Amino acid sequence: MKLIIARDYEEMSKKAAQIIAEEIKKKPNLVLGLATGGTPVGTYRELVKMYKNGEVDFSRVITFNLDEYLGLSPDDERSYHYYMYSNFFNHVNVKPENIHIPNGVAEDIDEECRRYDEAIEKAGGIDLQLLGIGVNGHIGFNEPGDELLTATHVTNLAPDTIKANARFFESIDEVPKKAITVGLGTIMKAKKIILLASGREKAKIMAELLDEDAVSTKVPASFLLLHRDVTIIMDEEAAEVYR
Ligand code: F6R
Repeated sequence: MKLIIARDYEEMSKKAAQIIAEEIKKKPNLVLGLATGGTPVGTYRELVKMYKNGEVDFSRVITFNLDEYLGLSPDDERSYHYYMYSNFFNHVNVKPENIHIPNGVAEDIDEECRRYDEAIEKAGGIDLQLLGIGVNGHIGFNEPGDELLTATHVTNLAPDTIKANARFFESIDEVPKKAITVGLGTIMKAKKIILLASGREKAKIMAELLDEDAVSTKVPASFLLLHRDVTIIMDEEAAEVYR
């Protein structure tokens, strides 16, 4: 595991964008796993900047997002579809047919989950997976519990997650209670993983993750300790307790 402690959010975002761009240079048809939420917004901003400066080309890149709220349609401003297009896809040259985000309003959700895994498999699996981390240690929306599922599935969002994500909604009651998420198996099969953590609210979970040196379904991100190519980039605030 490689640990980078960046000075601040900007530096964390730049480092993440640089690694992603380097991987695309090495493999122009990179299969890129993407996250949403507050943490990677700066990374997308940097990647858009690099694209506009001619430093990176997404024309052959294939993307798969980690998750989507159940019941939010792609044109709902609070959906992860909307987030991805407004923060990233509308500003770079990823081909529309190469963009994959779980459909939170699919008629047959089980079929949607199956289809999503099949598409990832067909693309050859994820080459580089970008992750954030929940305050409770979730990755994707794989929430702490007695067991973790390997494949794409519908998950009940944990109360901590609903609380943390209420900032993107008018009120906490509007936060969907369920989401579609890729499973831990798909994440762990990624050839390379970048985990980002920013801000004081992530300090406790990052210390738990890095100090305990143990794997538990109660901290889904702890499974990353078993992966052979993980880079954790956190800013000084997120590293506060760990240090
Ligand atoms: C989002 C995702 C989540 C977030 C996590 C942190 O696609 O998979 O695991 O990365 O909830 O969210 P932020 O960055 O908003 O703190």
